[in-house]
Amino acid sequence: MLADKDRIFTNLYGFQDWGLDGAQVRGDWDDTKGLMARGQDAIIEEIKASGLRGRGGAGFPTGMKWSFMPKESKDGRPSFLVINADESEPGSCKDREIIRHDPHKLIEGALIAGFAMRARAAYIYIRGEYIYEVKVLEAAVAQAYEKGFLGKNASGSGYDFDVFVHRGAGAYICGEETAMIESLEGKKGQPRLKPPFPAGAGLYGCPTTVNNVESIAVVPTILRRGAAWFASFGRDGNKGTKLYQISGHVNKPCVVEEEMGISFKDLIDTHCGGIRGGWDNLLAVIPGGSSVPLVPAAQIIDAPMDFDGLKAVGSGLGTAAVIVMDKSTDIVRAISRLSYFYKHESCGQCTPCREGTGWMWRVMERLRTGDAEIGEIDMLQEVTKQVEGHTICALGDAAAWPIQGLIKHFRPEIERRINEKHGAAPVMEAAE
Ligand SMILES: Cc1cc2nc3c(=O)[nH]c(=O)nc-3n(C[C@H](O)[C@H](O)[C@H](O)COP(=O)(O)O)c2cc1C
Ligand code: SF4
Repeated sequence: MLADKDRIFTNLYGFQDWGLDGAQVRGDWDDTKGLMARGQDAIIEEIKASGLRGRGGAGFPTGMKWSFMPKESKDGRPSFLVINADESEPGSCKDREIIRHDPHKLIEGALIAGFAMRARAAYIYIRGEYIYEVKVLEAAVAQAYEKGFLGKNASGSGYDFDVFVHRGAGAYICGEETAMIESLEGKKGQPRLKPPFPAGAGLYGCPTTVNNVESIAVVPTILRRGAAWFASFGRDGNKGTKLYQISGHVNKPCVVEEEMGISFKDLIDTHCGGIRGGWDNLLAVIPGGSSVPLVPAAQIIDAPMDFDGLKAVGSGLGTAAVIVMDKSTDIVRAISRLSYFYKHESCGQCTPCREGTGWMWRVMERLRTGDAEIGEIDMLQEVTKQVEGHTICALGDAAAWPIQGLIKHFRPEIERRINEKHGAAPVMEAAE
């Protein structure tokens, strides 16, 4: 178990003051100027050395992403940091805890990361439904300005930096980085075709990096405690500590910071009081938020909960939103509900996604009720392959993967329903 002394988020549960006084007691804003004085390239190198990979789902190395930003503006365009606080992935609820209980970690991280990538300002794009969190975040930003930590000569560093909070209106697709940029510009939140990538032409056509809340909020602590400290947790390519969000059929659902690579069993036994009804009652787990394929009980129990460990069992770490399902779950219905979500959230730009998500959901419903024909299972699998990889953004993949996981692991259950509905005669024992 991760020792308390090694936790980055020491007010995750909100037992202490979220405001500036409480944050400073926890070590935030302690000689931020000194951290910035190390220089922009040194900060980027330190983040690279820490092994930090993006916590928003795709796991792209954070330091490398920052290094794609221009070192100087040749045409006068400023650069921007956009912080993704949209958190609309079903199962994900970690950024919310950071924002409402430890917002200064994020704001200090915004300044340091923004400085490192030579950005003029950070825009924090926050999910519209997070009404209380917006209030806290805006109040915390105002506190930081009042103390001179942000604004002109931010934290006495000689660097000018602003932080703006922008509320979304409740669309999952605005979590996709280019849709977020469109939305910030006041347009309909629809993903852009890449290239150009945001580091070349992002917000208002200027170089932009989009990072997840957790990716940014861990930055000040990594710099204070050193890349080697952060990299001492987890395995190669899967370094650091991580916020896991465990929901569903465990005795005590929670958000907890743990060492990357902790096994699923240890995570659940240590922090969630075990599986409801005991380990024999576990059916399957969606380990990384609704967009990743489910993993059946037998394969997940010993799996390391990190990028490579979950890839090895045919799924992914995603946002580390762990959705646990026990044997009382109607697994076909659960996945069908996710299909409905993706159908509802498709922005409609690409035909395979716009038409495919609705089509897949309708077939999923027929599988759920058993009204489909057996041949439709393969047809559905085939359609998921037509959607996957054929769209502008990853929402198409996100809609396809849960269904692929279901068919791969629970085909007999799908067939059983169809056979039952069609009144197929039970298989007879051979006559003696
Ligand atoms: C449909 C869709 C929704 C997404 N929603 C979020 C989100 O709510 N929060 C987030 O951080 N990243 C989300 N992402 C990933 C972002 O596009 C982007 O990769 C991420 O913010 C990068 O941050 P990171 O490098 O720090 O992980 C989403 C991606 C897609 C395709
Ligand atoms: S994949 Fe779906 S959500 Fe993404 S751009 Fe295409 S239609 Fe929109």
